Amino acid sequence: MKLAIVGGGSTYTPELIDGFARLRDSLPIGELVLIDPVADRLELIGALARRIFAKQGHPATVRTSTALDAGVAGADAVLLQLRVGGQAARGQDETWPLECGCVGQETTGAGGLAKALRTVPVVLEIAERVRRANQAAWIVDFTNPVGIVTRALQTAGHRAVGLCNVAIGFQRKFAAHLQVAPELIRLDHVGLNHLTWERGVTLLDAPGATTGREVLPELLTGFGTEIADDLHLPLPLIRRLGVVPSYYLRYYYQHDAVVAELREQGSRAAQVAEIERELLRLYADPALDTKPELLSRRGGAFYSEAAVQLIAALLGTGGGADIQVVNTRNDGVLPFLPDDAVIEVPAAVDATGVRPLPQRPVEPLFAGLIAAVTAYEQLALEAALKGGRDRVFDALLCHPLVGQIELAEQLTDALIAHNKPYLSWI
Ligand code: G6P
Ligand code: MN
Repeated sequence: MKLAIVGGGSTYTPELIDGFARLRDSLPIGELVLIDPVADRLELIGALARRIFAKQGHPATVRTSTALDAGVAGADAVLLQLRVGGQAARGQDETWPLECGCVGQETTGAGGLAKALRTVPVVLEIAERVRRANQAAWIVDFTNPVGIVTRALQTAGHRAVGLCNVAIGFQRKFAAHLQVAPELIRLDHVGLNHLTWERGVTLLDAPGATTGREVLPELLTGFGTEIADDLHLPLPLIRRLGVVPSYYLRYYYQHDAVVAELREQGSRAAQVAEIERELLRLYADPALDTKPELLSRRGGAFYSEAAVQLIAALLGTGGGADIQVVNTRNDGVLPFLPDDAVIEVPAAVDATGVRPLPQRPVEPLFAGLIAAVTAYEQLALEAALKGGRDRVFDALLCHPLVGQIELAEQLTDALIAHNKPYLSWI
C-alpha cells in the first residue's frame, strides 16, 4: 500500500510516522512518500521518518519528493496537511482581527476566513492533480479550516474526507477517566468542524458492539471539574446543559473575554514558531529515532491514531474502526442544513466510503449556531472560489462573531491588506 503526505515537511509529520509505526498491523504501508516544496526541511523530516521506522522495525520505504505529480502517482491515499503562508500568515490571522475587537484565531472568525481564502485554491489544485494521478485515491484532509476545505473538495467531486483530532481527543480523555479502552467509548458528537458538542457518551459492551450504556452524566458528575478546566468553560453551564462543548465554543460563548486574553498573550503562532525551531534542531540530530516529547506541546495529539483508523477503514486493510467521527457531506443528516454542507458527526466508514449516521433532532441552542456558521462557510467558500471584496464582506457580515456592517468593513479591509500575495483577484 502506498501513502503520500502533502506537506510532509511539517514538524507534525513525526507524529504521523510514530503512529504508522506503532499501528502497522492496522495499516500495512509499503511505501510512504513525503511531499513538500521546502527541500531542506523535507530531507530533515524524511531522514527522521526513516530512523523512526527502522527503530520500530517497520518495513516501509520512505521517499521524499518536491514534485507533487510524481510523489502522488499510484498512491492509495493522500493526506493533506499544508499551511499556505506558514506560521507567519497564521500569526497575522491571529493579530489583525484583535485590533477590531474580534477573536484572532487560525480557524474561527475573520482569521479563519483569511486562512480559507489562502488555502482553498491551493488544495483544489493539488486535489485535481491527485485525481489525474489516480482516480481511486482517497484524499484525507487535515488542512484547516477543515470544514470549508472539505466542502470545497466534495463540491468539486473529489473522493475526500475531512479529519480533526477534537473527537478522538475526547474519546481518549473520557476512556482515561473511566479507565476503559478507547475502543469502548463512542461519542454522540454533532456539529461542524471546530463547532461541536458531545451530547452523549456510550460505554460499549465490547469493541464494535451495538449495545452499551450512556455514561455522560456520570462523567460530568465524577470528572466535571477536570473536563471544564480543560475547556476553560464554566462547570455549572456544562452540567446544566448536560453536554460537553469543544474548546472552540469558548470563542463564541466567551468571545470578549477571549479577546482580552489574546491581547495580553501574544499569538499562538509565535509560540508554535518557537516550538518548531526547537523541534527542527532536535530532528537534525542523527541519533534521534523517536518522536520527541516536545511535540506534545503542539495541538495535534492523536492525529496519527485518527488518520490510521480512517485510512485503514477506507482502504479495507482490516484494522479500521467501523464508526468514526469525520467531516463529510450532510445529505439530510441535519435536516436544517443544505445537503452540500459539510458536517462533523460519527460515520460508518468502510471500503465503499463514508456514511454519516442519523442524528436525533439538534436542540435550538446548538442548531442556531450550527446553521449560522454553515451559512458563513458557504459564503466563505464562494469568496475563496470566486474572489471579490463583496464576497469577503458578505462572509464576514454573516459570521455570528462579526455581524455588523462597520466591523465587517474594517475586517474586510484588514484581511485583504494582510493577504494580498495570496489573493489572485487583487
Ligand atoms: C488541534 C486542532 C487542529 C489545529 C491544532 C493547532 O489539533 O484540531 O485543527 O490545527 O489544534 O495546534 P497548534 O499546536 O498548531 O496550535
Ligand atoms: Mn482540528
